[in-house]
Amino acid sequence: MAKLKWWQTAVFYQIYPRSFADGNDDGIGDFKGITEKLDYLVNLGIDAIWLSPHFPSPNWDCGYDISDYTNVAPEYGTLEDFKTFLNESHKRNIHVILDLVLNHTSDEHPWFLESKSSRDNPKADWYVWVDTPPNNWQSCFDGDAWTYVPERGQYYYHYFMKQQPDLNWHNPEVKQAMWDAVRFWLDLGVDGYRLDAIGTIFEDPNLTPHEVPMTLAELRRFTELAETAEDKQLAEKHWKSMFKNQFGQAGLHELMKELRSIIDEYEGDRMLVGEDENIDYMGNGNDELHLVFNFPLADTNRITPEHIRRNQVERLSRLSQLPMGGWACNTLSNHDRSRIYTNYGDKHHDAELARLNAALSLTLLGTPFLYNGEEIGMTDYLLPHISQVKDTMGSWYYHTIVTEMGVDPEEAMFRTAEMTRDKNRTPMHWSNKPNAGFSPDGVTTWLPINPNYKDGINVREQELNPDSLLNYYKHLLKVRRETAALIEGKYLPLHETSQEYFAFLRSSENQRVLIVLNYSEKRLNLDFSDTSEISGRKLHTLFSSGVRSRVDHTPNKLTIAPFEVFIAEVKP
Ligand code: GLC
Repeated sequence: MAKLKWWQTAVFYQIYPRSFADGNDDGIGDFKGITEKLDYLVNLGIDAIWLSPHFPSPNWDCGYDISDYTNVAPEYGTLEDFKTFLNESHKRNIHVILDLVLNHTSDEHPWFLESKSSRDNPKADWYVWVDTPPNNWQSCFDGDAWTYVPERGQYYYHYFMKQQPDLNWHNPEVKQAMWDAVRFWLDLGVDGYRLDAIGTIFEDPNLTPHEVPMTLAELRRFTELAETAEDKQLAEKHWKSMFKNQFGQAGLHELMKELRSIIDEYEGDRMLVGEDENIDYMGNGNDELHLVFNFPLADTNRITPEHIRRNQVERLSRLSQLPMGGWACNTLSNHDRSRIYTNYGDKHHDAELARLNAALSLTLLGTPFLYNGEEIGMTDYLLPHISQVKDTMGSWYYHTIVTEMGVDPEEAMFRTAEMTRDKNRTPMHWSNKPNAGFSPDGVTTWLPINPNYKDGINVREQELNPDSLLNYYKHLLKVRRETAALIEGKYLPLHETSQEYFAFLRSSENQRVLIVLNYSEKRLNLDFSDTSEISGRKLHTLFSSGVRSRVDHTPNKLTIAPFEVFIAEVKP
């Protein structure tokens, strides 16, 4: 294999700690639980974990509002439990990266408590304070972006919830304090960070107002009700412009370079992946972030061959322009997005589409990130009642549209259940026992369990079923691991006008692999004799989601079953 770094060859698996495994039977996931499941992950075949925030937090934003950057939330365990988890992961050759939330802290963080206490305390300038709201900026979660504090007689700025005040990154002391926290975990041996919401770190210094004639709640409601193409386009335009002065502003490249230089001081190829799709944040390819997510691939509710091809052309050409080269990073879901099974399903072939999309993220060029539960086909769960909603952006929206807009509570609940991220964060299904084996029977879990764990959507039953989605993922991950071209090979799209299937080659120095993903319900008879790399050779099956009577096939007469995933090595 070419000299690739571990984070280029690895398959990452995102663990949402609250929902992954409950080791102490209190209805909330924890480090004991995660550590007990490490062998499950080894067995699954992943190489690295991205752990969503595990720090103390009042949980207004499910851990993304941190009140202590160098500790462990008591509900997840202790620092010792964290160290055991890290050590046990490393023993199993699993790398671990943490979540790094730079833009804001919790409003209960001691830094903020001090900052808000007066106008002249030592941390008075650690957050973004103004005498009066200078503009109409919105928080992307809960309305006005400026919140009043009586102690100071001033307002502070928050891009997210009002419980998440933005740090003032122009203040060198803020940087210093955050870099100390970064080093704390690197010193303990973590392998890198996923950087949260980097685009929000700096704001337009001129504080230019947005020009959307609506508030956040009004725009959300307008979007929900938009039926005509015109209204839909207008909604999209408004979403783009509402936050444009609060996002992607100058200063980020310098900051990323500074952080990169800290990371590079450490041995063992520590890495950074940014929660941003902008390849510019990879700098020259070697001086800012190692990876940014290919969100445009995921930003649709229908994955089609055309969508994939267009996406790949854009992303890969842009990456190849980086002076030091760039590496792709593909993902289809995470804790903020509708689950793959639901989002890309068509209600008739959801199971087939889930398998195709798993194969897509595991065969495209780049590092794949999976989200816990996708391997067993977990689906979105729409909460039936407002009292169950934990994602506060959801409960804020519900109350706002009911009280300020007079929306019928039933309709408001339906909309809220759809927009809140609770739907894709429900606890992992380990078995078909009560509470899906996540917690013992009778324990109230932090979010309700999706009742469909009883319908075979659980680890235990799928482990026993050779045809399950879980075994499909395991098999695919094994084939990927054993097939160098699937990791390091160049990408070459084939039959680029097909609407029904997506075919491509991955070619490395010593190996060439053909991948065909049939996104249609048609049986296809394909002829690849027009492709010089394949013509006259034989196709040796490495993986198929269908039943194949023979292992070797000829490229000019290749039959692909409806929705089949076919992966074959091109042999002389
Ligand atoms: C990121 C996180 C999201 C969080 C937000 C604020 O987008 O993925 O869950 O709510 O940042 O920290």
